[in-house]
Amino acid sequence: MIHGNDFKSEMKISDLKSLEISLGQRSYPIHVGRGLDDLLADQISGCKKVNKSIALITDDRLQEVQQEFIQKHFAEVPTFILPNGETHKNLQHFIEAQEYFAGLSLDRSTVMFAFGGGVVGDFAGFVAAAYMRGVDFVQIPTTLLSMVDSSVGGKTGVNLRAGKNLVGAFHQPEAVYIDLNRLQSLDSRQFSAGMAEIIKAGLLADVSFFEKLESLDRLDAQSPELADVIHHSCSIKAGVVAADEKEQATSGGRALLNLGHTFGHAIEQTTNYTEYLHGEAISIGMMMAAELSRQLGYIETDEVSRIQELLKKYELPTELKNPIPCESLMIAMGRDKKKRQGTLKYVVLEKLGQAITRADISEKFILHALKQGGAE
Ligand SMILES: NC(=O)c1ccc[n+]([C@@H]2O[C@H](COP(=O)([O-])OP(=O)(O)OC[C@H]3O[C@@H](n4cnc5c(N)ncnc54)[C@H](O)[C@@H]3O)[C@@H](O)[C@H]2O)c1
Repeated sequence: MIHGNDFKSEMKISDLKSLEISLGQRSYPIHVGRGLDDLLADQISGCKKVNKSIALITDDRLQEVQQEFIQKHFAEVPTFILPNGETHKNLQHFIEAQEYFAGLSLDRSTVMFAFGGGVVGDFAGFVAAAYMRGVDFVQIPTTLLSMVDSSVGGKTGVNLRAGKNLVGAFHQPEAVYIDLNRLQSLDSRQFSAGMAEIIKAGLLADVSFFEKLESLDRLDAQSPELADVIHHSCSIKAGVVAADEKEQATSGGRALLNLGHTFGHAIEQTTNYTEYLHGEAISIGMMMAAELSRQLGYIETDEVSRIQELLKKYELPTELKNPIPCESLMIAMGRDKKKRQGTLKYVVLEKLGQAITRADISEKFILHALKQGGAE
């Protein structure tokens, strides 16, 4: 296993920080820094040295905007290119990818590299989980959201017509390379969507991190503090995942990472995934969860306002742009309930920096939170 800090003095990496996801035999390092090319090249040449084949999965947008990086590391490597966008994270492309790699006779020693946002990461992870009953894969996330969320924790999968991420597997990567230089081509709306998940991490588990985010000027891809912020956010997720890898805890556990997501997923579904980016829907969902927490007597009005202020700093929506009927949102959330054997668990804030799950919240509180968030 490569430990990034050992290389720091020899390589031109600024701010390199590594952490480990502790999952016994499936533990792996996450490297965060600007310019991880040498470290990545080392992993690739390490694979080749032991006669492992390597393969790349990326998308057509990255192929265009990160051409130089792909050429530098993956020239001549068998590459499956997914059309970009959520709708392409599907079974049809999954089969195409399997056929493509099998057609090239790639064997079980293949290491698949996922280079892209959460769509590519989830898709490639699932392709790797199933190919030859499971091959190794490495994540190189390229959106802020995928750096702090989807590349960490091993949830992989594709969408069905019936809903998002309904087919998949837990398949942990061998390593994650979070290179901040990859963010240079990302637009600010996508950057902000990733900030929503970072703010979520502070809210659910670490009030001092939340306060740090409040105190910092608005971050962008060049901000010197960004590596630390990403590292810290990943370490919060790493701790939660290590304690409850497969989300089996009866209360709390990995489900806490869903703060704002029960509402957010319903918002995404009822707007057909077209009006809001995932992080934007989660931003509105977190405000609804905050309002719910206030009604339950956990947090104060001024704390709800602080959450709103921080989200607004990143121009994230804090209420629906166009009203959605409460009934439609409740139906969408009900589908979530079916997935969880009849009980819908809400993640609420006991206080800033401490989330809990509650399965016993009366509908009138939920409706009030939805209305506060702009539903009708
Ligand atoms: N596995 C998990 O635990 C987990 C957690 C959260 C989200 N997700 C999944 O992640 C997905 C969303 O991920 P996302 O927000 O990264 O979206 P995405 O992968 O669709 O990327 C957004 C857009 O940005 C483009 N892009 C990516 N990197 C770029 C770069 N550096 N420069 C320019 N353009 C770039 C992509 O081509 C795409 O068009 C969803 O499918 C969601 O279900 C998974």
